[in-house]
Amino acid sequence: MSSSTRLPLRNASGLLVLTLDPKWIAEIPDHPVSLGDLYVVSYPKSGTTWTQQIVSLIQRGGEKDTHITADIPWLELKGKDFVLALSSPRTLKSHLPYHMMPGRDPANSIAKYIYIARNPKDVAVSYYYHAKRFTHFDFTGDWNCFFEFFMKGEVPFGLWFDHVLEWWKYKDAENILFLMYEDLKKDLSGSVKAIAQFMGYSLDDAMIEKITRQCTFDSMKDNPLATYDSLPEAPEVTVSNSTPFIRKGVIGDWKNHFSDEQSARFDAEYTKRLSGSGLVFEFE
Ligand code: A3P
Repeated sequence: MSSSTRLPLRNASGLLVLTLDPKWIAEIPDHPVSLGDLYVVSYPKSGTTWTQQIVSLIQRGGEKDTHITADIPWLELKGKDFVLALSSPRTLKSHLPYHMMPGRDPANSIAKYIYIARNPKDVAVSYYYHAKRFTHFDFTGDWNCFFEFFMKGEVPFGLWFDHVLEWWKYKDAENILFLMYEDLKKDLSGSVKAIAQFMGYSLDDAMIEKITRQCTFDSMKDNPLATYDSLPEAPEVTVSNSTPFIRKGVIGDWKNHFSDEQSARFDAEYTKRLSGSGLVFEFE
């Protein structure tokens, strides 16, 4: 096993970064993939649940009475026995970097992959509330403290720049759809249509409208089947009085959190890392 296939479990400051079994994680790239398998992939807090809601409604003809976590289970969390027992075609969620996905090299595999990315300043803020929300993070620091962890990539699934840039390299592969959270915000029904087309569905306008209505921020916030807050284990794994999972859902909340100095530091790193990549995000 090369060191690049391992995710850190605990950073130097003791922040719990991943609760999953590292041996099982290291085996995942060798998993066989089948025709029809679909992976919804992202760096955490980029709109994964939103994309899962869209994908699962497309697969179910716009109607469902099951929870998103049952419709599209989380690969890394579910464990070996559960995942390998699933019959194909499977639809799974993952936060793994490109080279750690089942099939090892997604662009050359027979599965399909939908990658959703979001501007990293809003990701950082959303991740901060997420870390404060779930008890297993054991994180009691403030925003300034979390910002430093985020900048160093000492959070589950590592450095945002590495994750997004590696997937971006393969964005033109026919079996990979690279989406932006900000585009879903601007044109949700157009995004539903594009996702459906990629998945091989031809939906009429009424069906696109029906799915879109169930994927707005307000309808997902009020839908117990679309949020983690309604899961039976929620009271046990959630810090009391923390923010809801479907929290704010806007572009630009970073402005309420980043200091001028943090914003300038972030922008410098962003420019350095993304220049020449062609990858551009909207921040407001
Ligand atoms: P905020 O914390 O900024 O509100 P993930 O599912 O990858 O963990 O991402 C969670 C983020 O997506 C949260 O962001 C959440 O509010 C936002 N989100 C979830 N559903 C959404 C929707 N229908 N519209 C807009 N944002 C949504």
